[in-house]
Amino acid sequence: MESPQSGIFALGTASHAYLEFDGRDRPGLVTAIASLREPRTTMGGVNLVAGFRPELWREVAPDDAPRSLDGFNADIVGVDGFVMPATQHDAVLWLSGSSYDVVFETGRAVMAELASVGSMAEDMAGWPYMHDRDLTGFIDGTENPTLIEAPGIALVGEGKPGEGGTILLLQKWEHDAVAWESLSVEEQELVMGRRKSDSEELSDDVKPADSHVASNDQDQFGKIFRRNTPYGTISNHGTTFVGFASAQRPLAKMLESMAGLATGTRDALTKYTRPLTGAYYFIPSNDALQRIAGY
Ligand code: HEM
Repeated sequence: MESPQSGIFALGTASHAYLEFDGRDRPGLVTAIASLREPRTTMGGVNLVAGFRPELWREVAPDDAPRSLDGFNADIVGVDGFVMPATQHDAVLWLSGSSYDVVFETGRAVMAELASVGSMAEDMAGWPYMHDRDLTGFIDGTENPTLIEAPGIALVGEGKPGEGGTILLLQKWEHDAVAWESLSVEEQELVMGRRKSDSEELSDDVKPADSHVASNDQDQFGKIFRRNTPYGTISNHGTTFVGFASAQRPLAKMLESMAGLATGTRDALTKYTRPLTGAYYFIPSNDALQRIAGY
């Protein structure tokens, strides 16, 4: 089995940056990013996860690309005028570390190193809130697989094209904090489908069909591994959705379901949160990156 980029599974880091790039020299951007990895990960104590627009990776490394994987190339238009915008870029770097200073330093160095081949298009910072909650105040990640199970769920399996890689869906969701906080805790729990205090799932006779967890039923759509983080300022904030899967389908089906395209009813959480960005990236194995870098 090809070895995955380990930062995908490096839980417990307190500071994150998600940097999306567009290439002037697109194949050159892939080579430059593939070449970045080794010194940076060990020296700065920063995890670095690198990914690429699926079509660009396929062009540069056809033998290491999963068979069916597309970028987020068109908006998802849901019911009631709800839109998930497509804001695909050429590459992503996810930096994570123990504090923002090391993430900041590494991010600045990386940006300088890539300046001749591309430029930064999105720059998002993420941080944990109350240990494991998102900015709705609910525990986020309860139904995540354990670290023992996660590689089996997130990674493209042995013998398949793209082995040891994973598919990332990256989306920035702005929260309408005023509207959300105008709900009682009981009303918020009906939106989420879980109890706020301890994340206990509501029983089937109470949990609404349009609740967030019912809209993302992993028994129906397939399992994914989430590494979401809160982002933003006091007045403007939300959730960076960071979801990994071994195939695009579960992620794409969940988005369609949230937008109301599966049942005609939107995920209730989309009335209080709004996606501002949306992109898919292929995160190749370490071995595939090294082949591109010529190590
Ligand atoms: C504003 C954005 C979002 C917020 C604040 C949010 C928050 C949450 C919370 C609090 C839970 C319940 C606890 C847990 O199991 O983690 C949850 C569950 C889940 N979310 Fe989200 N989420 C967001 C967006 C998304 C998106 C975009 C997807 C899929 C593409 C997604 C997929 C899931 C899945 C699969 C579960 C577990 C469902 C289950 O099997 O019980 N979420 N989310």
